[in-house]
Amino acid sequence: MEYRIGIIKGDGIGPEVVDAALEILDELGEKFNHKFSYREALAGGSAYDQYGEVLPQETIDICRDSHAVILGAVGGSKWDNLPKDKRPERAILGLRRELNLFANLRPGLLLKSMAASSPLKERIIGDGFDILVVRELIGGIYFGESGRRDTRDGIAAYDTEIYSEKEISRIARFGFEMAMKRKKRLTSVDKANVLESSGLWRKVVNQVSQNYPEVELCHMYVDNASMQVIRDPKQFDVILTTNLFGDILSDEISMLTGSIGLLPSASIGPSGIGLYEPIHGSAPDISGRGIANPIAAILSVAMMLRFSFNLDGEARAIEDAVDKVLGEGYGTIDLGPKDDRLCTTAEMTELIKREI
Ligand code: IPM
Ligand code: MG
Repeated sequence: MEYRIGIIKGDGIGPEVVDAALEILDELGEKFNHKFSYREALAGGSAYDQYGEVLPQETIDICRDSHAVILGAVGGSKWDNLPKDKRPERAILGLRRELNLFANLRPGLLLKSMAASSPLKERIIGDGFDILVVRELIGGIYFGESGRRDTRDGIAAYDTEIYSEKEISRIARFGFEMAMKRKKRLTSVDKANVLESSGLWRKVVNQVSQNYPEVELCHMYVDNASMQVIRDPKQFDVILTTNLFGDILSDEISMLTGSIGLLPSASIGPSGIGLYEPIHGSAPDISGRGIANPIAAILSVAMMLRFSFNLDGEARAIEDAVDKVLGEGYGTIDLGPKDDRLCTTAEMTELIKREI
């Protein structure tokens, strides 16, 4: 079968890391005899520069006609002062919504071999940890009613956190399914001591849990959760949470693994089209210098192989290659390797390619 992949390189370091990831994918295709075909599309700042809009219809069409989409990163200070609906971030939100990508998976994996790059103490890290954040991606405060109105105290602005039972049960089922494939522990994170929407969240998660008696469920308030992931990250397996809380917690967890440059993510919806992207941003400060860490993008390709194409062995081949290279002490500058193991983007990509 031919796998059709939409490619959105985006802005900043996006193109550099996506090119690296495609090099790995090509190598893999040759080794395992798969045909991957690519179609490029623009989104974000680069799309704005060319079309005056951040998410052109053509890009949506290309994505809809693909089996999966790989995205680099969008945004940069150049576009920071545009009105809200023209900002590059809108392209990401629009794509998620257009492709109905309700579930966002963000693994926070720290292998023992990488312990030195984590800011956590060794006694906390122990043998390492493996957390999967399952974040609801197309609801909540990101998409609830928002606006401004005049008041006696000047302009007031508001955003609404709103979740329906259907939205909560859909993401909860997804979270429990993930837990079933892992250590069967799920922590649902909310703010049910204050928010009405969290009260409903908790109730529906409890209902869904009835269908997964093997999964050990616990609930945690988000303020406590943000502390617990630092105090004892090993207590977590799957963290299930809302759009906003997931945005914040996943950045926090990524840093615990040492570098945000290592972590991939997958966004998945009912149609089966998945969107795969590194969780880091476009890092305009280092773009064009050939020093960006390509690993998050490369591991995003591994997630694509696993979740969209069901090619688990191929995904593992990439993950093992990355582990091996990191285990040998090689790293891009963000990982702080020893001088003789310091790699450029191209060198890192080559080392990983050789291990496949
Ligand atoms: C992320 C990003 C996005 C989000 C932004 C760019 C809209 O922070 O993917 O985590 O808030 O979801
Ligand atoms: Mg974020």
